[in-house]
Amino acid sequence: VQHEELSLPLYFGWFLLPAVQEKIRCTSMDFLKTLDTLEAFKKHLIDFTGKAEKEVDLEQYYKANGTLHCTTKFCNYGKVEGSKEYAQNPAVRSANGSVFELSLTALFVTPRTAGARVSLTEEQLLLWPADAEKEVESAVTAAASLPRGSRAHITLGCAEGTEPVQTGVDLLQILALQKEGQQGEPLEMELGSLIYYGEGRWMLTLREPIAVPACFSSFYA
Ligand code: A2P
Repeated sequence: VQHEELSLPLYFGWFLLPAVQEKIRCTSMDFLKTLDTLEAFKKHLIDFTGKAEKEVDLEQYYKANGTLHCTTKFCNYGKVEGSKEYAQNPAVRSANGSVFELSLTALFVTPRTAGARVSLTEEQLLLWPADAEKEVESAVTAAASLPRGSRAHITLGCAEGTEPVQTGVDLLQILALQKEGQQGEPLEMELGSLIYYGEGRWMLTLREPIAVPACFSSFYA
């Protein structure tokens, strides 16, 4: 038993296969490049800069962090509640090392994070912890009672001084606002429709979801 406790990872998740990492980084960069040239975005630049006149280069704004992945359970080597139970879940054990196809359905940015929304299938939801959404419940997200799996995402980058855990929080906030019906005019773009949710929050819902192969595994730093 002690041995198993010691062997709990930093986190479990789906890791994008190497061939697709580059493709998603390019898609993400293209999105950022397009976004920061849009008049609509420039109108709200102050959300990012704090100053009306200042420019922002989104491609430089977010720092990439390691292998692109979609975290399922953050365990912190067993310090996080429910880690052991998660690791021992038969579905988790048998999925280890298997390749799944993740569906990316939206790209989003906030002044803190950039990410891709992952829409999980029923099979993939079997690997999703029951409490993942509740962990970050705020007044906004609680009121929206978002379905399980709503937090699933890939962190594409974080602003200076922001930890990647923030990406899922930002996503849940956008989804809660979306559910409340709080949205302006969508801007039709080549990849899909872009909506501004206030306070520097932008989400591009992809016209064609992007399918990416990803290996379910655990990660030890
Ligand atoms: P994310 O899944 O949004 O990218 P770190 O490098 O900070 O230790 O984080 C390692 C990974 O675990 C990151 O992918 C990060 O965020 C995720 N993560 C970190 N802390 C948490 C947490 N408290 N809850 C859920 N995921 C977390």
